[in-house]
Amino acid sequence: MKDLAGKTAFVTGAASGIGLGIAAALARAGVKVMLCDIEEAPLAAAIEALRLTNADVDGVKADVSLKAELKAAAEATIARYGKVHILINNAGVGGGGIYGAWTDAAWDWTIGVNLMAVIWGIEIFGPLIEQHGEGGQIVSTASIAGLLSLNSSQYNVTKFGVVGLSEGVRVALAPRGIGVSVLCPGFIRTNIMDSRRNLPERFDRAVGGNLPAWSEERLDQLKIVHNQIRERVSQGIDPAYVGELVREGIENDWPYIFTDIEFEPQIEARFAAIKQGFDQIRDRVPRR
Ligand SMILES: NC(=O)c1ccc[n+]([C@@H]2O[C@H](COP(=O)([O-])OP(=O)(O)OC[C@H]3O[C@@H](n4cnc5c(N)ncnc54)[C@H](O)[C@@H]3O)[C@@H](O)[C@H]2O)c1
Repeated sequence: MKDLAGKTAFVTGAASGIGLGIAAALARAGVKVMLCDIEEAPLAAAIEALRLTNADVDGVKADVSLKAELKAAAEATIARYGKVHILINNAGVGGGGIYGAWTDAAWDWTIGVNLMAVIWGIEIFGPLIEQHGEGGQIVSTASIAGLLSLNSSQYNVTKFGVVGLSEGVRVALAPRGIGVSVLCPGFIRTNIMDSRRNLPERFDRAVGGNLPAWSEERLDQLKIVHNQIRERVSQGIDPAYVGELVREGIENDWPYIFTDIEFEPQIEARFAAIKQGFDQIRDRVPRR
């Protein structure tokens, strides 16, 4: 989509971090933006701040892990702006738990917000974008953790899902005039490490708080790794820059939007391991 000015975007998780960075970058490019978030006060503050820049923005509260609320948010967007061209499936939560501390509630929460909301977003907004025939773009926020799995967490599983979904839907929607991109950020300076602030009441409050039945020593190592990740996020890339990258990705229909190259060697190593798997059976492939 080359001419963004005057188009309309719907952004989930828009009250904070990357979502707010994307909403601001799109607003700067003249896009009308409907900001959607589960957190009301930061949402109101984000709208107020963007309006001071003369942006045409509005907001709608929704828990995107509830399909009915996402659908109502889509209806509110059409009621407010008439059309929608750009969907940014960005809301997401970190946490969950690693092997040894899995709970069904943690899987339900992370899969609900990080993956089902993206599936429903495409299901609900796809036809709305198709309807006006002016084309559009869908960007879903996965992560580098959608290409590289380090600790068997719920987060990795959901983000791999977002990458796979985006790759497939890109093929399906291209003939319908809709581009599809997947955003795979590295460490970005946001509030992601405090995701439990958005744990809906309907889930067990212990989500993510459980620890595996490990020795003190291993638990200490786990805490060290957690603190290192928190530190990396707090020193991470500015979400405002990520917003501008996403705007560029939309304008040029980039299939993958990366924020940096830190994890490129590990991803190459993963591809090499996959290739090795093929090499191991290359001579044994049955002849037809
Ligand atoms: N920060 C990073 O280093 C990083 C790296 C890779 C990917 N990501 C991804 O970026 C996306 C944005 O996260 P962020 O880092 O900006 O964190 P953030 O916590 O600053 O922002 C996430 C936003 O999503 C909202 N949200 C959470 N649950 C919701 C729900 N059920 N319904 C609606 N909104 C909800 C939050 O209120 C918040 O405003 C996520 O999908 C995250 O997984 C972040």
